[in-house]
Amino acid sequence: MSRRGKMERAWILLLGQIFMGAWSLSREEKGPNFVLMMVDDLGIGDLGCYGNATLRTPNIDRLAQEGVKLTQHIAAAPLCTPSRAAFLTGRYAVRSGMAGYGKLGVFIMTAASGGLPEQEVTFAELAKQQGYATSLIGKWHLGLNCERSDDFCHHPNRHGFDHFYGITMTNMRDCQPGHGSILYMISSHIPTRSIGVAIGTVAVLHVLGVISVTRKMLLCFSLVPAVFLALFAVVVFTYPYLNCFLMRNQEIVEQPFLSENLTQRMTHEAIQFLQRNSERPFLLFFSFVQVHTALFASAAFRGRSRHGLYGDTVEEVDWSVGKLMETLDSLGLRENTLLYLTSDHGAHLEEISSNGEVHGGWNGIYKAGKSTNWEGGIRVPGILRWSGVLPGNKSIDEPTSNMDIFPTVAKLIGAGTPEDREIDGRDLMPLLLGEVERSEHEFLFHYCNAYLNAVRWRPANSDSTWKAFFFTQNFSPENSTACLHTHVCFCTEEYVTYHDPPLLFDLSRDPSETTPLTEREVPDFHAVLDVMRRAASRHARSVAPVPNQLSLGNQLWKPWLQPCCSTLSQLCTCSRDDPPEGGD
Ligand SMILES: *[C@@H]1O[C@H](CO)[C@@H](O)[C@H](O)[C@H]1NC(C)=O
Ligand SMILES: *[C@@H]1O[C@H](CO)[C@@H](O)[C@H](O)[C@H]1NC(C)=O
Repeated sequence: MSRRGKMERAWILLLGQIFMGAWSLSREEKGPNFVLMMVDDLGIGDLGCYGNATLRTPNIDRLAQEGVKLTQHIAAAPLCTPSRAAFLTGRYAVRSGMAGYGKLGVFIMTAASGGLPEQEVTFAELAKQQGYATSLIGKWHLGLNCERSDDFCHHPNRHGFDHFYGITMTNMRDCQPGHGSILYMISSHIPTRSIGVAIGTVAVLHVLGVISVTRKMLLCFSLVPAVFLALFAVVVFTYPYLNCFLMRNQEIVEQPFLSENLTQRMTHEAIQFLQRNSERPFLLFFSFVQVHTALFASAAFRGRSRHGLYGDTVEEVDWSVGKLMETLDSLGLRENTLLYLTSDHGAHLEEISSNGEVHGGWNGIYKAGKSTNWEGGIRVPGILRWSGVLPGNKSIDEPTSNMDIFPTVAKLIGAGTPEDREIDGRDLMPLLLGEVERSEHEFLFHYCNAYLNAVRWRPANSDSTWKAFFFTQNFSPENSTACLHTHVCFCTEEYVTYHDPPLLFDLSRDPSETTPLTEREVPDFHAVLDVMRRAASRHARSVAPVPNQLSLGNQLWKPWLQPCCSTLSQLCTCSRDDPPEGGD
């Protein structure tokens, strides 16, 4: 090569490097891409990397090995709707009105008017404003409509997600015929004892001749349960048609949805999203519909695990995680994508199928499960991988929260968090990078619906992690750690026992919360509780009153809000789920 040729080549190389440098700088300035994965109802004890020896989760285990594993990652609530509201906004669900005051803590009808209020800011909204492509694939469970069946006031598209493919409600047993959990819920609301007492009293009075019940009256009275039963049958029969549908953006593409291959279809949709957006920053929230009941797994996974259908679904979820990792690798996005995997709360221990098969997950050494604030209800997997930035094979035992993702994303994309409201999450990066040793969460508050149930305190000057319960839910049967009679544990007065002084545990010594501590074991017992009580009331004062999105009125089925992709006489059925080629 001539001298001139060499010079030219060097010049081109230099220019190229400057150009590439500027390009990667601009990408860097924009922050990484995000793939945030949330599994529904997954127990911390279901994953290999958290100690399970028989359920196979090789892809998730690899994610943990290549990244940071949080061992004290805490869901902001032990139920789907409030936990997800808190995750998306970085705020306890009471602040947005997404924590109920009654028994029911989640939405169970699509035609309910409650949902994540418009003025709440999600991390997707922040990312969208910064030029990110944003997508939610999978479960939403934060409302749909307000006033009409197509105003979509609570829809993911209104909360920062450009693209949506999934279900706006939750997967329910009732989505598959003959599995009804609605049955449990409604029947737990029937005051059977009072009805029995009333009938008995009337019968006795009749026999004693105090009153006389005529045949006509008897007929009228028996009409009430008959009408009730008929209504009940209608609800159970129509439930899957009215509540279990799949949407692409604001169009219903399948009603009711076919679950069998749903994880596969969602995975395919996610891969397409990643491919479409590989040249620009993106944020994908992949929200698994599994492993909530009704369980389903596609043919390739059915009957393969050592833990029945439940294990099969977990293994399919793991396969899906592997597919997303593989796609990022093949697109060359491994180094500038932050992956996160968690569960919305602990495993649902009451999920025993009608033939006695265990359909709920495993919470390892942690007590109780979903719907409680014992560690089994709120301690969830928390795995973060960002190759080349975060350390690999690292485990952190400090308290962190699923609300931390909000400020972490905000900081990384240079968006800043809204200043006109309380943000309860904390930026995770300093802890993940090892710049600080201690979590910024000195206190975490554990809510049972809208009721402050317990406080966690990690004092700066000690190794203890205190947890104090103001009340605990009554288990049924009593010697279990679940509420089998009601399917979930409730938070209202008649279902709980109040504690004064609060029940105190030190999680650093008793992570399974087996024995409450007494004054004898803890010399400064009262001082510790005092600090926690004061923190609780300080926190309570910071919660501004807002409209209750889960009030009875906002939970009720409102026919005029009911989405239906055909006509009522066609039972709202349709099936046109053809993924579009390219484009959003
Ligand atoms: C699921 O996928 C399998 C093979 O990929 C196919 O044979 C089966 O028909 C699909 N089931 C549904 C319900 O689409
Ligand atoms: C692994 O998970 C399964 C399914 O949830 C559970 O039955 C089993 O007890 C777990 N095993 C261990 C060792 O944690």
